[in-house]
Amino acid sequence: MAQSEDLLKKLVSHAKEYGFVFPSSEIYDGLSATYDYGPFGVELKNNIKSYWYEAMTRLNENIVGLDSAIFMHPTTWKASGHVDAFNDPLIDNKDSKKRYRADVLIEDHIEKIKGKINKEVTKAQKRFGHSFDKKQFVSTNPRVLKYTDQIKGIESRLKEGLEANDLEAIRDLIIDLQIVDPVSGSRNWTDVRQFNLMFQTEMGAVSGEAGKVYLRPETAQGIFVNYLNVQKTTRHKLPFGIAQIGKAFRNEIIARQFIFRMREFEQMEMQFFVKPGSELEWYEHWKEKRMNWHKALGFGDEFYRFHDHLKPAHYANAATDIEFQFPMGFKELEGIHSRTDYDLNAHEEFSGRKLRYYDPVDEESYIPYVVETSIGLDRMFLAVLAASYHEEELEDGSSRVVLRIPPFLAPIKVAVLPLLRKDGLPEKAMEIMDRLKFDFNCHYEEKDSIGKRYRRMDALGTPYCITIDHESLEDNMVTIRDRDSMEQSRIAIGEIERILIEKTQLSKALRMI
Ligand code: GAP
Repeated sequence: MAQSEDLLKKLVSHAKEYGFVFPSSEIYDGLSATYDYGPFGVELKNNIKSYWYEAMTRLNENIVGLDSAIFMHPTTWKASGHVDAFNDPLIDNKDSKKRYRADVLIEDHIEKIKGKINKEVTKAQKRFGHSFDKKQFVSTNPRVLKYTDQIKGIESRLKEGLEANDLEAIRDLIIDLQIVDPVSGSRNWTDVRQFNLMFQTEMGAVSGEAGKVYLRPETAQGIFVNYLNVQKTTRHKLPFGIAQIGKAFRNEIIARQFIFRMREFEQMEMQFFVKPGSELEWYEHWKEKRMNWHKALGFGDEFYRFHDHLKPAHYANAATDIEFQFPMGFKELEGIHSRTDYDLNAHEEFSGRKLRYYDPVDEESYIPYVVETSIGLDRMFLAVLAASYHEEELEDGSSRVVLRIPPFLAPIKVAVLPLLRKDGLPEKAMEIMDRLKFDFNCHYEEKDSIGKRYRRMDALGTPYCITIDHESLEDNMVTIRDRDSMEQSRIAIGEIERILIEKTQLSKALRMI
């Protein structure tokens, strides 16, 4: 996959043209960072959900599901730390009246310096040709070294400012770097302020502080507050896990890069409750398991890497991200955290309720430790789309766009296409649809030439097309076309189900993890 902003643009337009993702409220010019999933998008999304949920709950007899409410008692968010600390530093430009994340302005400035380094590298590459040694060049060229030192200096000031919550220091950095508003070019900045990312609303008819509720910024807290309900009703002993898929909301100041960073998105989170002291072993276990889940999709191991946090957040004693090579570069796709007993302790303190687990083996009560795996469903959707998208030149000189989506995730499993719109072919095709529809998501299409219909199905990622022609009426055979190889073969109608089961079923993918 080419790594470029250009690819991202192509994905955005492909997703819209083929009914995967539409900008939300488009007739009103859209609403920033919110998107709607179209008919083929919702199928792909549901298939990703099933892959995750079944891998969690069916493959682990000690993990069960939950669907907790989006609204929670407001004290939940006080206990979790979100009311006081779920903030981004923001700054306004007094001339343009535009608001920015202060740290992102600085990061963008760093990117510009990196761009200068890349320019030097490209220039030198051209000059030296085959004998060019990039490693040696970047470690010796005086201009590149100067830029690298600048970057290091800025990064260390930014890190210090953020860690000490020193908003003045962050503003000073913006001023010292002479960063201008990207819209107006002005340097007329306000102070930096902390901006809480939670959306608020009022519940019932009560206005003001008393009725204030939040749209949850993560699904995890619904799991924490229910862990004893789940443990008691399922009779699971430690270790056990709770898996949940649901919407989360964050008032991101800068939301961009399509569905990578949204204000309303979905998370797939699993909290694994373990005996204190065993958490780091389980953390390693879940790191490996989650990476295997990703790699089993078959896009190629080079798409993934771990990014261990050298300094995990205050509530964690180990943390890593699984990063994916998105069109914009390697970025976080999933977080895995060993969250200690921080959340459950806080909920015990704020609620006044005992949240201890009675361990029948050791005959003692304690607050379990938690290992969390948390992945954004929309980010996973973008990852699948990006890794599947291929533009291909064909032998006959034509070209095609094909989504090589793993067949078990594909929105449509099989397209049923009568060669012509007459002579009883549509009726025969509908007969086949009626057989297959109970087990597979099928799609019927009779408009356009068969070649055009194949191209459309390639663009939707449909792994198989079945074509019904005049001979089919005589011999009960159809042509089956494979999306990836484009090979066509003649098979008996009775064979279709067997092939589809073998190639497109989720259970096969689950066995590969
Ligand atoms: N409970 C832990 C938690 O919420 P997080 O790193 O803030 O951790 C977990 O979020 C995952 O949710 C991320 O790895 C990412 O995939 C997804 N995510 C977070 N913010 C998002 C946003 N604004 N838009 C889309 N996905 C987001």
